[in-house]
Amino acid sequence: MDPTLLTGYKPPVIEGTIELRRVRHIYPSRPKVVVMNDVDLVIPARKTTALVGASGSGKSTIVGLMGRFYDPVGGEVLLDGRNVQGLNLHWLRQQISYRSRSSLPQPSIRTFAMDSLGPDMSICRKRKSDS
Ligand SMILES: Nc1ncnc2c1ncn2[C@@H]1O[C@H](COP(=O)(O)OP(=O)(O)O)[C@@H](O)[C@H]1O
Ligand SMILES: [Mg+2]
Repeated sequence: MDPTLLTGYKPPVIEGTIELRRVRHIYPSRPKVVVMNDVDLVIPARKTTALVGASGSGKSTIVGLMGRFYDPVGGEVLLDGRNVQGLNLHWLRQQISYRSRSSLPQPSIRTFAMDSLGPDMSICRKRKSDS
């Protein structure tokens, strides 16, 4: 994918709903491993959604598919109902910010989420009163 391409739609407004529909993914460098098989997922706009799973379960792959670092071999990734493959790639990536946990000295998930997302993250506020 070439992020300097000028082609593709740039939506004038963004709601922020992200959807995976029947996504199947295999990395070209490991053709024998099916990383995602028929995955459906809706991430609603204006909400905080956590992807939780064991190492290697596919969390980073989902983020990579959203930003089109790879295109899935099957199914669709949609932003506000539009397939991301029809969007301007530079614009799409400007809408995403990403912070990798591995660059940090292994904080708790809560500390990491608080640092990354700030106190607006409602799950953190809730958990704080529990502890
Ligand atoms: N660039 C890549 N090339 C080949 N295989 C990959 C690549 N990135 C991830 N994988 C494989 O895809 C699976 C899911 O990995 P990943 O999305 O990184 O999981 P998580 O972020 O949940 O730890 C793993 O089996 C991993 O080895
Ligand atoms: Mg990961």
